[in-house]
Amino acid sequence: MGVSRRQLLIAGGTLGGLGATSLLHQVFSQNKALSPQESVALNAPVAQSPISSPAPKGLTAPVRGDVRIVVISDLNSQYGSTTYEKEVDQAIAFIPDWQPDLVLCGGDMVAGQKNSLTSDQISAMWEGFDQHIAAPLRQAKIPLGFTIGNHDGSGAIIQGKMRFQKDRDLASNYWNNPRHNPGLTFVDKAKFPFYYSFSQNNIFYLVWDASTDRLSEEQLSWVEKSLASATAQSAKMRIAIGHLPLYAVAIGRNTAGNVLANPDKLRTLLEKYHVHTYISGHHHAYFPGKRGELELLQTGALGSGPRKLINSQQQPFKTLTVVDINLNAESTIYTTYNMNNLSVVDSQMLPRIVVGYNGWVLRRDVNWEDLTPQERKT
Ligand SMILES: [Fe+2]
Repeated sequence: MGVSRRQLLIAGGTLGGLGATSLLHQVFSQNKALSPQESVALNAPVAQSPISSPAPKGLTAPVRGDVRIVVISDLNSQYGSTTYEKEVDQAIAFIPDWQPDLVLCGGDMVAGQKNSLTSDQISAMWEGFDQHIAAPLRQAKIPLGFTIGNHDGSGAIIQGKMRFQKDRDLASNYWNNPRHNPGLTFVDKAKFPFYYSFSQNNIFYLVWDASTDRLSEEQLSWVEKSLASATAQSAKMRIAIGHLPLYAVAIGRNTAGNVLANPDKLRTLLEKYHVHTYISGHHHAYFPGKRGELELLQTGALGSGPRKLINSQQQPFKTLTVVDINLNAESTIYTTYNMNNLSVVDSQMLPRIVVGYNGWVLRRDVNWEDLTPQERKT
């Protein structure tokens, strides 16, 4: 029995599964007629393709990758606040519908970093965080990876002393309470919750303490040892997360102290160990960037105070990003929602390059060669 190419294409469009695809490939490559058995195989009912696109009702639904992460950041409101703006509560209610493997939070989960706040007030903020964010995720059985922000437990050192030791102690108390187990498979939690590593779905996650602009020598040697480890290097991908970004991207944050010191040195370290993406918060302005071999996901704020990107006229907006990962291709697709109106952010509307005081970051779909001479000069 002969089979035309068109018939096969129609069949291919309705069939899923490796067996049928393989059979179609053989037929095309050998240009032969199908045997009765092959014909039966092609006409047999085949399970639907495993493509799925879970999303909250009414929102754009991206195709799920091998691994899906929901990335949120900068959730807090004013100092001492125990509640959250409505976009935060809305996002937490939505998250199970995206069916993520993991939620990552870029820090500033509570609103400390003010020494007049009492221990009771700080504990009440963490209780509010638990009630609004962590407990609903635990109940939905979604693991929560996070990094400590300057408002959670700043590591600032003044005259040899930790300026916000109380914040750090209470953050540590909260996260080390077994009732608040974030559901992660830790690789190294000796300095948890400040710096630690975990693995999930064949991805190694390194969390560093970028609650200030400096990583101590002790922390840097831990970072290098962790990234060089067999566990990290045998994973299919490596992702790092910290609160401060490497390079400035937002108006009002374009100063020393609001980015990590020595960004090129840190980037080289991450590149050396094939870290795919560094995720950061603090700037409150979404920018899907890259520089050198490293992708830079600068998250927007979900809580109060979204900011404008440097050299952009767009009004600030709150965001949440769904990251779908293809493990074999080591590639990621971002679907970022403007949480003010629930539309998807068109990355083409963002600047092609952002130039802050400590360096430039390209939008991740743009190459240096694509820039105009004018853009290269900015
Ligand atoms: Fe911050």
